[in-house]
Amino acid sequence: MIIDWKSTALKIYEDLKEKIDKLAKKPKLVVILVGENFASISYIKQKSKWAIYCGMDFELRQFSNDIEEDFLLSEIDKLNKDDTVTGFLVQLPLPKYMDPDKVINAIETKKDVDGFSKETIAKVFLNEDGLYPCTPKWIKRLLDIYNIDVSGKNVTIIWRSNIVGKPLALILINAWATVTVCNSKTKNLDFYTKSADIIVCAAGKPLLLKKEMVNSWSVIIDIWTNFVDWKMVGDADFTSLEPENMITPVPGWVGPMTVAMLIENTYLASLRN
Ligand code: GUN
Repeated sequence: MIIDWKSTALKIYEDLKEKIDKLAKKPKLVVILVGENFASISYIKQKSKWAIYCGMDFELRQFSNDIEEDFLLSEIDKLNKDDTVTGFLVQLPLPKYMDPDKVINAIETKKDVDGFSKETIAKVFLNEDGLYPCTPKWIKRLLDIYNIDVSGKNVTIIWRSNIVGKPLALILINAWATVTVCNSKTKNLDFYTKSADIIVCAAGKPLLLKKEMVNSWSVIIDIWTNFVDWKMVGDADFTSLEPENMITPVPGWVGPMTVAMLIENTYLASLRN
C-alpha cells in the first residue's frame, strides 16, 4: 500500500491557507541563498510557491558565493531585528569556507522556521513546544494522519543525521516508541529492520532496504531520492516491498511535506512573535 504524502501535503496547505487568511497581519518568510546551487534554487522555488499560495509574503535574499561570513552574520542580525519578518532560513549547503553551525545558530530561535538551531533541538529533547525541524516533523505527522500510533512500537531509523535521524529519534521517544538508530558502522542491519514495526530510511543508499530485511506488517517511510543510471530510486526497494508493505513512494516527491512543515512553522511563528 502506498502512503500518499502528496495529497496529505495539499490538505495541510489548504488548512494553512484558511488559517492565514484569518490573521490580522500576513506572515513573511525570507530565504537567504548564498551562491547559485542548482538544487537549492529549485527547493526555494517550491518554498516561495507554497508560501505565496498560503497567503504569506515571501522574499529571497540572494548573495554571491564570495561574501564574507561576517557579512552574512550581519544580514542575519538585521532579519532577527526586523519586525516585518516572521521567520527566515539560510538555504544549505553554504560555501565551504563558511561554518554552517555558526550561521544557523545566529538565527533567533523564534524565527528559526527550519528548526535547525541548538535551542530548538534542546526543545525537541525536552519535549517542549517549538518550531520543530521540518523533515522529522512531517514523518511524525504522516504517521499520525495514517493513524499509526508509535507508542509501544519498535522503530528503526536508518541513519543518524543531525537534521533527520537524531531529532526524529527524540520525537518518537517522546511519543513512547522504542527507537533504534542505525549508522554506517551498524553490524547486521537486517537484525534491526526485522525487529521493527516502522522503518525510516534516511541514508542516501540506493535500494539498501530489501524485502527479505523486513516484516510483512512493517511500515516503511523512505525519505531519500537517489539517482542510479539516471533513474530515481529510494533507499528502499519500492518495487519489491510495495505489494505487501505500507510504504512511501520513490519516485514521488518528498518535498511537499517538508515545505508544508516549513510553512506551518512560519504560521506558528507568526502567532508567537
Ligand atoms: N537544503 C536542503 N534542504 C534544506 C532545508 O530543508 N533547509 C535548508 N536551510 N537548507 C536545505
